[in-house]
Amino acid sequence: MGVIIDGKAIGEKIRKEIKADTERLIERGCRPGLAVVLVGDDQASRTYVRNKQKSSIEAGMKSELIELPVDVSQQALLNTVDRLNADPTIHGILVQLPLPPHIDESAVIQAISPKKDVDGFHPENVGKMIIGQDSFLSCTPAGILELLKQTGVDIAGKHAVILGRSNIVGKPMGQLLLQEDATVTYCHSKTRDLKSFTRQADILIAAIGRAEFIDADHIKEGAVVIDVGMNRDENGKRCGDVDFEGVKEKAGAITPVPGGVGPMTVTMLLKNTLKSAQRTCSNYISTNG
Ligand code: GUN
Repeated sequence: MGVIIDGKAIGEKIRKEIKADTERLIERGCRPGLAVVLVGDDQASRTYVRNKQKSSIEAGMKSELIELPVDVSQQALLNTVDRLNADPTIHGILVQLPLPPHIDESAVIQAISPKKDVDGFHPENVGKMIIGQDSFLSCTPAGILELLKQTGVDIAGKHAVILGRSNIVGKPMGQLLLQEDATVTYCHSKTRDLKSFTRQADILIAAIGRAEFIDADHIKEGAVVIDVGMNRDENGKRCGDVDFEGVKEKAGAITPVPGGVGPMTVTMLLKNTLKSAQRTCSNYISTNG
């Protein structure tokens, strides 16, 4: 059986380090602050947001939740973002996606100051990430990279196959693995003969949002399988994009759902918020004594 990659344990270990660094920053008079904006009443979004808030409070950070009604105007949402951009106690701003259809998501993302864009979605941060400059990295791909590194997976020269091409996961994931010298293939809903690609993967990242779609027949013996899916099976039980029970015997390493990628996404959000506060506060401390 392959190694089960314990994202919960790895995430907890990193969060302890984040908490210690947060405490050091607080001693110097600067408490990292994260603002989360939730529009509407989508239950899944509400659960994610609650989890992000809880984790930031556990790390010792200031946490602000702004809840807006589903019919909020785009201008009112942009005004909220502007207020948070100007608030010196807030170092990270996250607007939970998806937004209602009447709101232009990219306009909202671009309104967030790149210096507070702890999701790593702003075009400035995406561009910097692609050319290898210091930036906020998108949390799920950054968390997956951390999982691979902490598990001791050698990435250079490996064939990484990414299933899914979203701006949040698939696209940045491929770029991060490319920077680690992997050979990267993107597959998506229009890809023909998917198995011919997945069977070549040394590292397979499944981010397609289809419950247990990837079975043992898709996998090469010994492959590292990372499951980004957050679905419900026919019994309402949480499951990923990978048939975990069927694949775990054949994979060299595999992430479970829950307890794999999910805890790492939140951990990277805290890491980005801490990084933003460290940048701002070191400027503040060096200017004001
Ligand atoms: N919706 C699903 N994942 C995410 C995420 O990582 N950030 C934001 N802002 N919204 C999301």
